[in-house]
Amino acid sequence: MPTTFSITRAIDYPNGRPHLGHAYEFVIADALARWHTLAGDDVHFLCGLDEHGQKIERTAKAAGKEPQAFVDGQAIFFKEAAKALNVHYSDFIRTSEPRHITIVQDIFEQLKKQGDIYKGNYEGLYCTGCEAFFTDKDLVDGKCPVHKRTLETVKEESYFFKLSKYQDQLTKYILAHPDFILPKRRRDEFLNHIKEGLRDISVSRTSVSWGIPVRSDPKHTIYVWIDALPNYITALGYPDGKLFKKFWPADVQIVGKDIARFHIVIWPALLFALKLPLPTSVHTHGFINVGGEKLSKSTGVHVDPIELVDKYGSDAFRYYLLREIPAGEDGDFTEENLIARANGDLADGIGNLLNRVSTLVHSHFNGKIPSPNTFQAVDNDLIAQSAIVTDVDALMRTYDWHKAVEKIWDFIRYCNRYLSFTTPWKHTDDKERLATVLYALIESLRIIAILSSPFIPTTAEKVAMQLGQKITTLKDATFKKTTTGTLAPAKPVFLKLELVKEDPFAKVNLRVAEIKDVQNHPNADKLYVLQIHLGNEHRQLVAGIKAHYKPEELKGKKIVVVSNLKPAQLRGVESQGMLLAAEKKGIVKVLDPGNVSVGEQVFADSITPGTHEITIEEFGKITLTTKGKNVVYGTLELKTRHGNITCDIDDGAKIK
Ligand code: MSP
Repeated sequence: MPTTFSITRAIDYPNGRPHLGHAYEFVIADALARWHTLAGDDVHFLCGLDEHGQKIERTAKAAGKEPQAFVDGQAIFFKEAAKALNVHYSDFIRTSEPRHITIVQDIFEQLKKQGDIYKGNYEGLYCTGCEAFFTDKDLVDGKCPVHKRTLETVKEESYFFKLSKYQDQLTKYILAHPDFILPKRRRDEFLNHIKEGLRDISVSRTSVSWGIPVRSDPKHTIYVWIDALPNYITALGYPDGKLFKKFWPADVQIVGKDIARFHIVIWPALLFALKLPLPTSVHTHGFINVGGEKLSKSTGVHVDPIELVDKYGSDAFRYYLLREIPAGEDGDFTEENLIARANGDLADGIGNLLNRVSTLVHSHFNGKIPSPNTFQAVDNDLIAQSAIVTDVDALMRTYDWHKAVEKIWDFIRYCNRYLSFTTPWKHTDDKERLATVLYALIESLRIIAILSSPFIPTTAEKVAMQLGQKITTLKDATFKKTTTGTLAPAKPVFLKLELVKEDPFAKVNLRVAEIKDVQNHPNADKLYVLQIHLGNEHRQLVAGIKAHYKPEELKGKKIVVVSNLKPAQLRGVESQGMLLAAEKKGIVKVLDPGNVSVGEQVFADSITPGTHEITIEEFGKITLTTKGKNVVYGTLELKTRHGNITCDIDDGAKIK
């Protein structure tokens, strides 16, 4: 009977596109799951989306969609990101699915019946960003410590979960299970937190409609964490599904440090209340910043994993994330570092080694793996060095994946040194010696292909194919003296990467619109509120051109708008885009797209227009001016398919 390995990662909030943090966690969990598959375990790897709550409800509304339709669309992006990253999950649960909703309602009723959930009143400071209440001591300068925004005071009837009841049981459990909180150094932090006293937590809302209704009291919806955490068991078919029996408790739950408390305190207490076993380990990973800055929707620091994979391939990205950032610690992401790592360790490290060996085997043995002769001391050293599988396996089982990767690449470096030392290309007249050295290297590369496959699956597969071998199981990752086969023609398995710098204009999407209605802004003298048509969409814009145009001059006018700008409230009125106008010496003229259809795309040469939402800061990075009457980006004229974008001000006007 194979042993089982059950792993989960957090379910993501789909209020935006998948980002680097999500990608990081996908990749960690996938590498661990793949490792255990390679070890012969029966693996279950769960991912999913946390789709309810006020934040999603608001984002959907701003996008003009019903919450369900909105999350259905978002789910596609998350699944695409997982696919691009070569992540093979076993199941992808979405909390808006009936299989989740019904069971969460059952759980709530059970806890209510047994007195673990009771009704009370809640008044507190709530952050819609975190979907969490905060107490005064959590605040930084009176604001949410994570989002730095002012919190809302929310008072309402609410159900509470008796978290306080489980304080002692949890403390004892943590003390008795040294592997429960990983990395271990985080244990004291949580023991101290629990010692300070656990308070009962509010677990329902009457003010949020996009959530799971409490079955016996449907004006309440179940508060987001009590909805989200049980996904780990609803996905397995709790209470009596086959998978639940087989894969619960999870061996490890991978989460980021911002949500560790929910998984180390609230989730175990819920499991105690349900009389269910706790996961063996909760592993908390660190946060990734980008070039020293936090990922943030509001400042536009966003790295799109799909774009990165398009540019550099999934293995380079996976390798970098797993190797560069020590397990459990924060890290910083830059494309330059990704490229340096991939070129050094994948192209030069594995790629070169394989290429040199493969070329020699083709030229001296017709591509056939030669049989080894007598192994000399230097070969025996290499063989000894190749015995890393037990150590790598141990590191993977303590969730030190970066050290596991390091260990494999130490061996790759050793192989390259062995090759330089034995210089087989100089001994082509001594076929016996040549055969032995090349055999030793092929066998080492076969081991490397197996061991590296959970981290860089595509490249590892190519290495194995080129060697005429298969990636089998960990059991085969030891040096054998009888491997046979024929090598495929020598072909680089990993090409060197070059930095692909994106033109800031490639983020922007400009389109032609028509103004349908013009009203004065209710709270600002200089602003109009415009209703516009943008192809098959209707939008509202707030524009500061009141001093320069009368409403009748604007109505029916074709204009150019930034169509992918993040909606913003301008003096209390939402603006879903930005009208572009040129200004010079106090004269302001809106850009003229000519008589073309609404919705037409505006281009700057062959730069592909952006498809994602951008912030005003990102738009601010590009400078548009006029040259003659044409609007230009640098030297590139802005055009639709039918002609140039112009404006009634000559040379040197600034476009805003
Ligand atoms: N929906 C909750 C989790 C519920 S689990 C029952 C949530 N979602 S999230 O989308 O905000 O985050 C998903 C995971 O990504 C979390 O583990 C979080 O820590 C992780 N990351 C989010 N940003 C991150 C970085 N910048 N770096 C690394 N991981 C980070 O929280």
